[in-house]
Amino acid sequence: MPANPITPAPPVTPEIRPLPREDSSALLDIDQWAFIDEEAERDPTPALDALEWDRTFGAWLTQPERLAGVYAAYSLDLTVPGGSVPCAGLTWVGVHPQDRRRGVLTAMMRHHLRSVVDRGTEPVGALWAAETAIYGRFGYGLASRNLWLTVPRGAELRDVPGTDRLRVRMERVNPDVHADLIRSCYAASLPLRPGNVSRRRAEVTRAVLDDQLATHRGVEGMRVLLVEDLDTGRIRGYALFRRKAHWGDGGGPDGTVTVHESVVLDAAAARVLWGRLSDLDLMAKTVTDQQPPDCELLHLLVDPRGAAPSLTDNLWVRLLDVPAALSARRYAHPVDVTFAVRDPYLPENEGSWRLTGGPDGASCVRTKQDPDLTLDVRELGAAYLGGETLSALAAAGLVEVNRPAALVPAATAFMSPTAPNCRWMF
Ligand SMILES: CC(C)(COP(=O)(O)OP(=O)(O)OC[C@H]1O[C@@H](n2cnc3c(N)ncnc32)[C@H](O)[C@@H]1OP(=O)(O)O)[C@@H](O)C(=O)NCCC(=O)NCCS
Repeated sequence: MPANPITPAPPVTPEIRPLPREDSSALLDIDQWAFIDEEAERDPTPALDALEWDRTFGAWLTQPERLAGVYAAYSLDLTVPGGSVPCAGLTWVGVHPQDRRRGVLTAMMRHHLRSVVDRGTEPVGALWAAETAIYGRFGYGLASRNLWLTVPRGAELRDVPGTDRLRVRMERVNPDVHADLIRSCYAASLPLRPGNVSRRRAEVTRAVLDDQLATHRGVEGMRVLLVEDLDTGRIRGYALFRRKAHWGDGGGPDGTVTVHESVVLDAAAARVLWGRLSDLDLMAKTVTDQQPPDCELLHLLVDPRGAAPSLTDNLWVRLLDVPAALSARRYAHPVDVTFAVRDPYLPENEGSWRLTGGPDGASCVRTKQDPDLTLDVRELGAAYLGGETLSALAAAGLVEVNRPAALVPAATAFMSPTAPNCRWMF
């Protein structure tokens, strides 16, 4: 007797075709099945406005004819070491549970990867993974990390000069009032860190704010803290946050502040923002789960261990056009290395490539030279933003080192002095 007597459903070959906005109720139905996110009172209009409808697709099955899966792509700019690169941001991926594990996602991924390559404008793709075991098989590598911190109320922070010229505003989020302020501060922060992605269209920022307003569960509505420069009136940092009141066993206040998105443009803004957020009345702690591993807050804390730091995954990156992607970024040191790349989904990436370059530019061309390193395209994606090192991947056996002297210079050249991180979970 087999351990599991249930016969797996046979694989399917869905037809992938564009999903027009007229079909948005079918799209939302799949999304709600996939993400268990039925919010009857939630107005889906802002999220639908943010979609690029010429990049929104459905996977259709027959007998009966039905929509089994959906996905969409955003046209993003991804900050990379030394610049930025057009990037296909995969989003809204969902398959109806009755049709899962029959190849619907695989068909959608093949369609997505091929259609982005055929567009010819985005050498790189990126996504946030609902579950980390899903996307490695499609060539996405874990390229950046999230730091979770739980800061006890009143935790001591180091002083930073310049805070006296900043003022804090705390307001209820109102997209009409805050969308432009937040959009421009977010945009100004983009070059500061690899892994940042643009919110290219105004609708996207509105959708982020509207979505935050709609999803509070038993906690206060979304608030925004703005750090304003007294001299120029400009916003130098902001945080979207909510408080949840709770009274502990002894009757004392034990509330939690949850920070949903935070952006700071400089050290003084960071000091003011975190000083305020970590010392709100009736709160016992401030939780932030999307900080870069080298975030300002960790360094400002006199007792960083007291904030119980822990790491999780952030952005997954996929090189769609290996030579274009590798020559679009800059390298910390001069580099001259040959890679043999495996890519079962995009065979045009397969074979040997020679990367030469440094801090001022780079080029990547086909070569007949013996490869120094052999690796899956997934590992190139992991190393692409400069956070995960080729040497760590080699130590894990994921990069084969054919010429040992090549590893350290290549790994050093790929590294970024700023840890990559994406602030927006798109
Ligand atoms: C995750 C999801 C999209 C997978 O869709 P699917 O149609 O079942 O995937 P496929 O049948 O094409 O599976 C492809 C492969 O990925 C594996 N896989 C799929 N989902 C997986 C998961 N959650 N964890 C681990 N492996 C997974 C399958 O086992 C299969 O492996 P194989 O090629 O070795 O046989 C679907 O289950 C879903 O919608 N889940 C809930 C929402 C979600 O997580 N969406 C992703 C957002 S980033």
